[in-house]
This record gives sequence, C-alpha cells and structure tokens, in this order.
Amino acid sequence: MNIKYLISILSISFLFILSVYSCNIEKNNKEVVYLKDALKNDFYIGVALNTNQIWNRDTSSVRIVKQQFNSIVAENCMKTEEIQPKEGQFNFANADKFVKFGEQNKMFIIGHTLIWHSQCPDWFFEDKNGNEVFREVLIERMKNHITTVVSRYKGRVKAWDVVNEAVLDDGSLRNSKFLKIIGEDYIRLAFEFAHAADPEAELYYNDYSMALPEKCAGVARMIKKLQTQQVKVDGIGMQGHLSMDFPTVDAFEKSIVTFYNLKTKVMITELDITTLPTPSRQLGAEVSLNYEYQKEMNPYANGLPEEKSEALQRRYLDFFRLFLKHKDKISRVTLWGVCDQDSWRNNWPMHGRTDYPLLFDRSYNAKPVVNEIIRLAGNK
Ligand code: XIL
Repeated sequence: MNIKYLISILSISFLFILSVYSCNIEKNNKEVVYLKDALKNDFYIGVALNTNQIWNRDTSSVRIVKQQFNSIVAENCMKTEEIQPKEGQFNFANADKFVKFGEQNKMFIIGHTLIWHSQCPDWFFEDKNGNEVFREVLIERMKNHITTVVSRYKGRVKAWDVVNEAVLDDGSLRNSKFLKIIGEDYIRLAFEFAHAADPEAELYYNDYSMALPEKCAGVARMIKKLQTQQVKVDGIGMQGHLSMDFPTVDAFEKSIVTFYNLKTKVMITELDITTLPTPSRQLGAEVSLNYEYQKEMNPYANGLPEEKSEALQRRYLDFFRLFLKHKDKISRVTLWGVCDQDSWRNNWPMHGRTDYPLLFDRSYNAKPVVNEIIRLAGNK
C-alpha cells in the first residue's frame, strides 16, 4: 500500500475518533450523547440551580442544564430564609420560576429543603420580644411552613428534602433549635406534615459525611425508628461534598449498602469535589465553618495544574464507577452546581478561593471527565 495513502487513512480515522469523542460523543454523526442519555437506564442525573439560571439570565449554564441533566434541585430559593423570610410573608417568585423551569424541561424536580437549622430565620424560633417560643408554637410554625410550601407545588415537585442535616458526625442528633425546643419528635412531625400536604411526593432525609461509620449508624438508627413509627421516608440523600482524599470509596460504598438495606431509595445529592487544600481532613459540609482566608490555601487562583485536573478526573470516575456498580440502589446523582465559578466551594469553608469542583469549567466547557463518565456508562 502506498505510504501516503496509509497516512491519510490513519489521519482520517484519527480525526473521526477525535470527533466522536470530542466535546460530546456523537452516534451516527447525528445524535449527541449527553450525561442524561448515557445514564438514562441507571439513575437520574441532576443539578442544583441558582437564581441566575432559574431566570435564564445565565444562558450558557442553562444550555448545559437542558442538554445534560434530567433532574433539578433548588440551591437556595426554597430554603426558609428565602421562601418565608418573615412570618406569614411567603416569597414564591423564585421557587415558582424554578418549578416551571423543571416542568418545561420535563425534569424530576426536588424541593430543598423544608426543615434545616441553617438559612432559617430567627423569627421562626422567637416570639415578638425575641424570647424562644414554646414547643407548641414551633410545631405550629413548622406545620404552617411545610403545609404552605408543599401544597403549593403538590404533584409538581416530586420529592422533598424534608429534614436536612439533623445528625452530627458522631451519630447523635444535632442540638438545633428544633431539637432543643421540640425534642426528637420534630423529625417525625416534619415528615408527617409533608406527607399530609402531598401524599404522592417522595420524602427524603438528607445529610453530609454519610460515609463516616458513626454518622451512617446514627442516621440508620433514626430512619429505623421513624419506620417503626409508620412514618413514610422514601429515601436517604447522601450529600456528596467530597475532598480529593476523603472519604474513601469503600467507606462511601458501605453507607450506600447500609441505607439501601433500610429499604429506602439512596441518592447522591450535592456532589462536588474540592481540589483545594482542606483545613481539616474529615471535611464534611458543616456550613457554619468559616476559616480566615490564607493565600497558601488558595494555590490554584491562576488555573488548575494538569496533574491536579487528572487527579480530579480519576476521583470523579472512581465515584461514578461506584454509583454505576450500585445503580440498582441509587435513584439519582445530583451535582451541586453547573460550572466551577458558581460553586459554593469557592467560598466555603474559606471565603474567596478559586476551586474546580464541578463537571463544567469557567468557560462553560465540559471537562474531559464528562465524556469519560459517558463512556463508563456505556461500557458497563
Ligand atoms: C449552600 C449553597 O450552595 C450556598 O449558596 C449557600 O450560601 C449555603 O448553602 N448542605 C446543603 C446545601 O444542604 O443547602 C448547602 O448549600 C451546602 C451544604
């Protein structure tokens, strides 16, 4: 064979392979495979939306959301401080728009979150004079809040993170104002109020650091207790705020199995992987942590070095391999944001850093790992 001919055949084949696996894998030169297509028989692939996305002000991110994801969750706009900033004053504008966005794009919509100690305004726990309210008053406020919000989106928001982060890393209950004023019952009551408001909605418990054995055991104990009380808990959300070396994939796997054995759905909610140094090894997602800015803790302000990008890709793939292995147990994997520049991890647990924790970069491009995940899903 003529050498020129051979070279041109080889270059054409190379270009073809490159085009197939470039930005997104193309089938038959036409159909483009995105994350949601590749994973459609495995689990929902979701993403958290901020208000710029909800209102279509950030059109580049919205394009990615529509192409790649089939489930959405509200990053902030359904939290108590946003949706009921003052008693009886509900602000539904952002949440309404968020739900409409999900419906227009035929997405599985999750409401986040009904009862959480954080981003919950002081009025919730205080009377007019600033004194702590009695148990009955707080229960009534919880009931009113949950009933108003869940009823408004009945049949449209398919699932709710009913209680968020009620358990500490050692497995004990967090001493939040809900616990202090109402007692452990507040968790049961929250689920019951939500169920009464929309009997069809799926109801979840959601928390971080779920791969810690003590925390996993504590959550399992709490869920079992709710189950013996005939409370409907449909799923457990394992927030995936990961670091490069914590937790291990094995530990995460053990918790997936433990939760699945409770006969509830398991979800990976809030997935992101920080590439930055962490001030404590077992960093979870305790939102109240706030370390003072240090320049040496912000090493990649001008870009992530190649070897770090590759390490991030390996870490993502290790976890997606795990999720696909347990696709019979996992109903959804949700990323906590679209592009790196919008991730909360740029500001938590230290304000003003430059992190690279998501699947899409600051120029709205899919990182190479996206195609690797697509390939992984195809190869299983
Ligand atoms: C974060 C949001 O991403 C930030 O924008 C906000 O300032 C603080 O909350 N656990 C949760 C999420 O359940 O609601 C938190 O989201 C991250 C930790």
